[in-house]
Amino acid sequence: MNSILILHGPNLNLLGEREPEIYGEKTLKEINEFLISLGLELGLEVRTYQSNHEGDLVDTLQNACSWSKGAVVNAAAYTHTSIALHDTIAAVHFPVIEVHISNPYSRETFRHNSLISSVCRGTITGFGWRSYELAIRALAHIIENN
Ligand code: DQA
Repeated sequence: MNSILILHGPNLNLLGEREPEIYGEKTLKEINEFLISLGLELGLEVRTYQSNHEGDLVDTLQNACSWSKGAVVNAAAYTHTSIALHDTIAAVHFPVIEVHISNPYSRETFRHNSLISSVCRGTITGFGWRSYELAIRALAHIIENN
């Protein structure tokens, strides 16, 4: 079975309690459980990982090169600041889909710029936790057609 990585960046461990009017009421654990079972339906092993540390996210993406066919990345605040993540996504040899729960373009201007979009296969924003679902479905399609 093909495997994919779902990578969650800083503060996403607080989903459910963090600004629920923006990020919804589901916890990260609930979202991950849904994504793992969706993956099985689509014939994909979904491995999830969350970190608040930029270098840890870089290491995890690099290490995924040995086992993953693709990744869904919500880099959270590092989306707007991390040249390191941009460079890692450019370096890995699998498709990466950028995801956001909220729509950053309808929020503060500092969220309007993504440093990773240009090296991602595509971006899905603004559909709540379902943004992850849409991204996994897109990734399954990309992997199938490769
Ligand atoms: C986010 C949007 C980012 O601007 C923010 O820093 C986050 C979450 C989202 O999923 O909507 O932490 O990536």
